[in-house]
Amino acid sequence: MTNDLSAASITANLGTRFVGQRVIYYPSLTSTMEVAKQEARLGAVEGTVIVAGEQTIGRGRRKRAWLSPKGNIALSIILYPSADYLPNLIMLSSLAVVYSIESITGLKPQLKWPNDALIKGKKVCGILIESGVRRSKVDYAVIGIGINTNLRLVDFPEISATSLSGELGREVPCLDLIRRLLVEVEKLYLALLSGEPIYEQWRDRLVTLGRRVQVNWGKTRYEGIAESVARDGSLLLRCSDGSLAKIVAGDVTLRNH
Ligand code: BTN
Repeated sequence: MTNDLSAASITANLGTRFVGQRVIYYPSLTSTMEVAKQEARLGAVEGTVIVAGEQTIGRGRRKRAWLSPKGNIALSIILYPSADYLPNLIMLSSLAVVYSIESITGLKPQLKWPNDALIKGKKVCGILIESGVRRSKVDYAVIGIGINTNLRLVDFPEISATSLSGELGREVPCLDLIRRLLVEVEKLYLALLSGEPIYEQWRDRLVTLGRRVQVNWGKTRYEGIAESVARDGSLLLRCSDGSLAKIVAGDVTLRNH
């Protein structure tokens, strides 16, 4: 069921204007990010998607490795937004992931700031956004999405993540989920471009708010209550000395209530 991926099956009657209208599928690839960035530098049409059946050198945020065996979803989407929209891509892609997982599986993922999708507190999806920016002009943005779809958790006891099949006790069709994801990405991107707010939808899904958290970014560590998020996506953290820290990026650990 999960091996029926091809460029043609993903694109067929997708119903989008541009996201997923051009798909390049590789049964096996180092990382979809690398190919997507090469394609973007060569001027690939907006909405081009690179999909891998498996990745051999999948990568996550902060140069971490990302596990991407067969049966999982690994893809990168090329967009050309203006600089103003760049911070919104985190909200857009994480919401698209949540909506598409809900629609295909009925599961209800939550979001951990800024863009990890969780099910029952365990990570099920990672998102990596990379862009080429020159003199404040965005040359391209690539949204990389990895969803633990049919990851057999028993085969990877070292990871504390979960997978959709692990939660459901059955396989999930990658093709249906990818197609839904591309539709949701385009819907939210078009909404964003036409000035509709997507911030509230994203904020309301964040499991982080109201929780005591630790945020690590490089050598800096913050601790406090995650009070709110700003419209640009930054986390507003109430520190123990009463001050409010505005955090643009970082890794959040949720503390106990
Ligand atoms: C993270 O949570 O650290 C982000 C993980 C992002 C993984 C995806 S899988 C598709 C794309 N290709 C990669 O090599 N990484 C991203």
